[in-house]
Amino acid sequence: MADKAFPYSDKVMEHFLNPRNMGEIEDADAIGDVGNPACGDMMRLYLKIENDIIVDAKFKTFGCGAAIASSSMLTELLKGKSLDEAREISNQAVVEALDGLPPVKIHCSVMAEEALAKALENYYANLKKKRN
Ligand code: FES
Repeated sequence: MADKAFPYSDKVMEHFLNPRNMGEIEDADAIGDVGNPACGDMMRLYLKIENDIIVDAKFKTFGCGAAIASSSMLTELLKGKSLDEAREISNQAVVEALDGLPPVKIHCSVMAEEALAKALENYYANLKKKRN
C-alpha cells in the first residue's frame, strides 16, 4: 500500500529505499554522465558489455528520490539486454516500470534516458579508439 504522505508508487518507494545496482564498475566498458542544470542533480551510469550484451549496469546518483528510483530501475531494465534493445529504452519505459511518477518528477526519469544515451555514445567512441 502506497504511503499516502508521498505521491509515489510502492515501486518508486521500494527502489528509492533499496536501490538496486548502486555503486561503480571499475572496469566499465562505458560510462554516461549527466546533470540536470535546473535542480543540480547528477547521475553516472556504468555498463559492462560483452558481445553486444549488457552484462552489468551500476549507477551513482546524487539526486532526488525519483532520480535514484529511476537509476535503479534503469539498471534493472538494462541487465541482459542487447545494445539494440537498450537503445529502445526511453524515460517512458522507466516511468512505466516504476508504476508512474508524478508529473513534476518526470524530468528525473529523463536523466536516466540521457545517461543511457551518453553511456552508449561513450561505448562506441571507445570501440572506435580501440580499432584505430
Ligand atoms: Fe533533480 Fe529529480 S529533482 S533529478
